[in-house]
Amino acid sequence: MNAIELLKTDHDKVSRLFQKVKATEESEHKTLFEQIREELEVHTHIEETIFYPKMKDEKELEDLVLEGIEEHHQVKMFLRELAALTDESEKFEPKLKVLMEDVTHHVQEEEGEMFPLIEEIFDETTLENLGAEMEKEKQSFKKTYTAGAGK
Ligand SMILES: [Fe+2]
Ligand SMILES: [Fe+2]
Repeated sequence: MNAIELLKTDHDKVSRLFQKVKATEESEHKTLFEQIREELEVHTHIEETIFYPKMKDEKELEDLVLEGIEEHHQVKMFLRELAALTDESEKFEPKLKVLMEDVTHHVQEEEGEMFPLIEEIFDETTLENLGAEMEKEKQSFKKTYTAGAGK
């Protein structure tokens, strides 16, 4: 899988989890949030450590990458805040809703603006190699995360 396909697959998975949140009772949202959190922590990690640094070297992509990093920052702040809320907090549902809106907006910018430019700039081999590198990091980061480092 090349880098773009890999990231889009992650985006689709998160978007399906968001649909589930919308289609289920509030009592199920905490468990869904834990899955959303893990997906987003792993995804933002591989983008920030491997994908974005490579893209930032390209003049046309620099501003989009810098904006992306700030959006990740906001998303991760929401993830931490949501994880720290008690079960009965009235802030949980509205915060989860805003998180989903922010992530959806961020994904639209990546898929609508950033990825098309990347596909013009980089050749298939480069994107394939980058994809392989990201897949490897994804697996090892997932292990650390589930072992408790991301909690
Ligand atoms: Fe992404
Ligand atoms: Fe991103």
